Amino acid sequence: MTPPQLVSNMLAPQFSLTSALGAVGAALGWGAAAAPLLAQPGVDWSWWRQAREALAYLAQHLPTRGVTSGQPPRIGIPAYTCAVTATPWLSQGWSVHWLDTDHWGRVQLPTPPTLQTLDALLVIHPWGQRLDLTPWRTAADTHGLTLIEDCAHAHHTDPLVADARLYSWGREKDLSCVAGGALATRHTLGLPTPQLPPPSQRWQVLHALQPLWYSLSLPWWHWGGALLPKCIQALGLLPLAVSPTERTNTEPYTTRATLGLTQRRILQQALHRQPYVRQHRLQLSAAWAAALTPLVGSDNLRQTDHHHRVLLRVADAPTFVTTAKRHGFHLVDWQGSPIAPAGTDLTQLGYVHGQCQGAEHAAQTLVTLPTNPRTRLSDVTRFATLCRDGTLPLAST
Ligand SMILES: Cc1ncc(COP(=O)(O)O)c(C=O)c1O
Repeated sequence: MTPPQLVSNMLAPQFSLTSALGAVGAALGWGAAAAPLLAQPGVDWSWWRQAREALAYLAQHLPTRGVTSGQPPRIGIPAYTCAVTATPWLSQGWSVHWLDTDHWGRVQLPTPPTLQTLDALLVIHPWGQRLDLTPWRTAADTHGLTLIEDCAHAHHTDPLVADARLYSWGREKDLSCVAGGALATRHTLGLPTPQLPPPSQRWQVLHALQPLWYSLSLPWWHWGGALLPKCIQALGLLPLAVSPTERTNTEPYTTRATLGLTQRRILQQALHRQPYVRQHRLQLSAAWAAALTPLVGSDNLRQTDHHHRVLLRVADAPTFVTTAKRHGFHLVDWQGSPIAPAGTDLTQLGYVHGQCQGAEHAAQTLVTLPTNPRTRLSDVTRFATLCRDGTLPLAST
């Protein structure tokens, strides 16, 4: 039997050893600084160490309408989301109104009575499903709300429709440079220019080494390679995108830094490669559909607009993810808790069970299949075989 290969949604699999070495070189001061990567007229642009820090900055400075006088400002956030889209707001004294989604995790526009109680709305494009922001823009204008678009799962540079657009380049995102983010905001929002200290050289070096550890360990991950990042992490040398304090929602938003030169270098490379990566994703996405549609039917499989992942509906997503992991498919246990696909139960953040039934259904039944460059057609075939022979439980038993 051939040993299982790592087939993962995680670990920014688009990194190569050369990008890791380039990053180390950049951190040591070799080579020219990367030019500005993205720009849009009429838009302020800022770089962040992580997207969540940009959200905390927005939470601090966004004008609020005072609709709920005496009450904290309130933001609408999808109930099917990564918890760190909510924690920055909570940390800055906002309250969160959870927005329901459909069964594919796509957030639904709230009704006018709800909109009247909000100061801001945050929309994500879950797993690469691009949502049309036009009705959201109209609703935001009608009710005087700030509209924020989160592109972590669907990186694009179309003209800004929202008031602010957030990019995250963490490891498991649509476009990745280990960690980092950016914020594009309209001048009219009048936000202060963020005064951020530049990253320390130690921070730069640690971040530069991170892809190197992963690049070195990925090829032999199943023969003990995973130990290397674990040891590095234990030694405090690996600033992971999701730290233990973030998992328990105790992350302080006090340490800030600009996106380092390292990230810019890797991001530059990632942007150059983007057209080829998209081609790969498109083909993988089609291969997943061809292999699995006969088994689950087209109603239970969804190819997303950005092909970031392919969505598969199963009877019990947490069980499916655990079983898949035993067979070398690391589908991320973001679906493993009742509601939050980040592994954090949103009830810890004030969510009440039953509040958003569509989102709960999505969290319990959706698994996402990788389309990244490390996923191969043979992986798709092997996965389909495991589904066909019942090893991977598509339906409830
Ligand atoms: C939709 C979405 N937005 C933002 C984030 C946070 O990004 P970062 O890790 O850069 O803070 C995540 C997950 O980590 C996410 O899934």
